[in-house]
Amino acid sequence: MSAPASASPADSDLVRAARGLPVSRTPVWFMRQAGRSLPEYRELRAGTKMLDACQDPDLITEITLQPVRRHGVDAAIFFSDIVLPLVVAGVDIEIKPGVGPVVASPVRTVADVDALPDLDPDRLGFLETAVRRLVAELGATPLIGFAGAPFTLATYLIEGGPSKEHAGTKAFMYAEPEAWSRLLQKLSVSSSTFLRAQVDAGASAVQLFDSWAGVLSAADYAERVLPHSRAVFDGLGERDVPRIHFGVGTGELLPLIGDAGADVVGVDWRVPLDEAARRVGPGRSLQGNLDPAVLLADRKTVDREVRRVVEQAKAARGHIFNLGHGVLPETDPGVLTHVVELVHELTASSAHATTPGR
Ligand code: CP3
Repeated sequence: MSAPASASPADSDLVRAARGLPVSRTPVWFMRQAGRSLPEYRELRAGTKMLDACQDPDLITEITLQPVRRHGVDAAIFFSDIVLPLVVAGVDIEIKPGVGPVVASPVRTVADVDALPDLDPDRLGFLETAVRRLVAELGATPLIGFAGAPFTLATYLIEGGPSKEHAGTKAFMYAEPEAWSRLLQKLSVSSSTFLRAQVDAGASAVQLFDSWAGVLSAADYAERVLPHSRAVFDGLGERDVPRIHFGVGTGELLPLIGDAGADVVGVDWRVPLDEAARRVGPGRSLQGNLDPAVLLADRKTVDREVRRVVEQAKAARGHIFNLGHGVLPETDPGVLTHVVELVHELTASSAHATTPGR
């Protein structure tokens, strides 16, 4: 994991690809790389609740490092959860195993919105400690900080837990436009505070997860959601770290996802990366987009699909190899390690030089 003294995360392949600069090989990491696909994670987490683990600097540090050690990925992602800033602010949320975040008192009225507590940055000392330790341990490997985007957080607060259609969320958005805007504005402030804390403690890039934004029409997204996601990025001010913005099922939203202030647009498996590059335009890099379910298939299929993604990504300004969504818990970790090796092998600079037509 440790690198030559001269190497720095700011000059890593991940940061360079995000900026559209030449890389030594395509950087790879996996959304949800830290977690239940790893036996060492399950062992360490045994007996500790998810949201307690997320506030323990020793556990955060170790769990974040596990996939970097095991797979040789090109970035670590801070072990936490998108609901953590709300939990730290005092909202009663539990993460139920196999279910996801469950909110004790869902937001149903304008008064509920006004009653949501703000996040006091002084309560993020545990995070600062963990990030500083991680940055010291990671050497030249960048740490990605992250936060949940206001819309996706609002779906949990309003529905009270995970939902498929997010109908209650949309109904609130249409019926209570002012309270909606106030809710998303509040959420953008807490997500921004959470991101700033990670960057100020040393994270080298950030990713904003708007996982469920794909349920919206482009018009609703542009008018009622995008300004609040942009506010999260704007809250980073002049901090010079690349910004990745990701959602699932966002094929129709890809140009807008970029417009919210991203250097890199994360793409799920539905849109091939050459088409995604066309939709996003020349000024942004792409991240993605192997279907996580492919990793459950035979090795030949895995290799064919990895090659296809790498090939289609050549249309992009820069490419960070990832899945189209998070690692499925039943994934064999050995396959993840294999994918890292294969992407590196396929894209090493010397391979580029000998690939006809480049
Ligand atoms: O490795 C990483 O990517 C870093 C850690 C991370 C977690 N959650 C840990 C986690 C990250 C980046 C997240 C983000 C997150 N959390 C998102 C956005 C990404 C996405 O998947 O779209 C969302 C929507 C959540 C909310 C959430 N938290 C869900 C839907 C779940 C899954 C429920 C389940 O048990 O399957 C969680 C729980 C969660 N977050 C786990 C982990 C490792 C599993 C908890 C456990 O191990 O007991």
